[in-house]
Amino acid sequence: MHHFEYRDGVLSCEQVSLAKIADEVGTPFYCYSSATFLQHLEAYKKAFSGVDSIICYSVKCNGNLAVLNTLSKAGAGADIVSGGELFRALKAGVQPGKIVYSGVGKTPEEIRYALEVGILMFNVESPIEMITLNRIAGEVGVKAPVAIRVNPDVDPRTHAYISTGMKKNKFGIAIERALVEYRAASEMGNIEAIGVDCHIGSQITELEPFADALVKVKRLIRTLREEGQDIKYLDIGGGLGISYDDEVPPTPMEYGEAILGVVGDLGCTLILEPGRSIAGNAGVLVGKVLYTKEGEEKRFLISDTGMNDIVRPSLYDAFHGILPVIEGGDLRLADLVGPICESGDFIAKDRVLPALEQGELFAVMSSGGYGFTMSSNYNARPRVAEVMVSGDKYRVVRRRESYEDLISGEIIPEDI
Ligand code: LLP
Repeated sequence: MHHFEYRDGVLSCEQVSLAKIADEVGTPFYCYSSATFLQHLEAYKKAFSGVDSIICYSVKCNGNLAVLNTLSKAGAGADIVSGGELFRALKAGVQPGKIVYSGVGKTPEEIRYALEVGILMFNVESPIEMITLNRIAGEVGVKAPVAIRVNPDVDPRTHAYISTGMKKNKFGIAIERALVEYRAASEMGNIEAIGVDCHIGSQITELEPFADALVKVKRLIRTLREEGQDIKYLDIGGGLGISYDDEVPPTPMEYGEAILGVVGDLGCTLILEPGRSIAGNAGVLVGKVLYTKEGEEKRFLISDTGMNDIVRPSLYDAFHGILPVIEGGDLRLADLVGPICESGDFIAKDRVLPALEQGELFAVMSSGGYGFTMSSNYNARPRVAEVMVSGDKYRVVRRRESYEDLISGEIIPEDI
């Protein structure tokens, strides 16, 4: 569900016309619907209302402060993977006690920062990370609350780049080895093992991989408890897919039923780390056609937005729906491409698209997740504005970068 629909022939976000925003803010821009974010969060809350749970929204998906603030005011915590994400989450008002920290490469500085602010839990991804965390916790004078991120070796049947819970992936500690590592951690002095964590991948559109992984995790939790380890939290990660094209992913309710069917009786507080299923369909990227060009073999729609603003099509060959901002018009086979000097710079390739002409606006649908957060300044292009809509109001929640922003922080040294 989302709130992007035609109103009086103009594609709108909630009650605000995207054409009006384009007029006032310029293009390209990301536009987010706060009602959609909240609706998705509520769907998760409802699905897991039968147990204690914390929904730790995955900051990497869309970390704009306004987005994080909207979700945290509605009760969400945060799943972070860097010191920068921790900083963002705290600035946006997320409570440290609702923050979980995953990632294979946490630096000593990042670990110290997270210990000092008192996050809920570190999801530890390797034995040496555990030793490092123990040492730094000793220096800070606290006990580090941890879960081991276990790798259950389950195939999530998604794009290879976003599958994380198989033996060949770099993430987590093999589930067979986890027991030994929990025992080692319990001897360490500054570690308190309070949970088990498992995240198997992203854009998963079936329930079985989640359930299969959790059956293994449940067995581990039972064994740990038998050994006297007080496991209070089960972090089931994120990964629930969304509909970009014709996928029919399970709803949060169906997902919740499947999860609780396996682990509902453990008495653990469940931690969820959804990203895409909260943010993906809560945002669009609006661009404008600069030129149309009849190539030798195909027609190109050359737009003012490209792979530096939205890299998913180039990186994963991902599908995003393209809608004209002004309703109607013909359809035509074309490539929608950006201005970047790379042949891989396309938003839609060999697709039947709205037959847009110079100056016309379009929306790249389902771009609220892994859109802006993966954008770059490649080709010295300022990053685009981000706009948040609520009802009949909109606000710029990140101003468009300027040329000065592009060089701020750069130095021409005088002596070399
Ligand atoms: N938790 C952890 C530890 C993660 O690594 C991720 C995503 C999530 C939660 C959130 O997963 P979600 O609910 O959004 O599926 N850039 C790719 C997606 C990469 C996902 C990375 N990890 C894309 O654009 O499809």
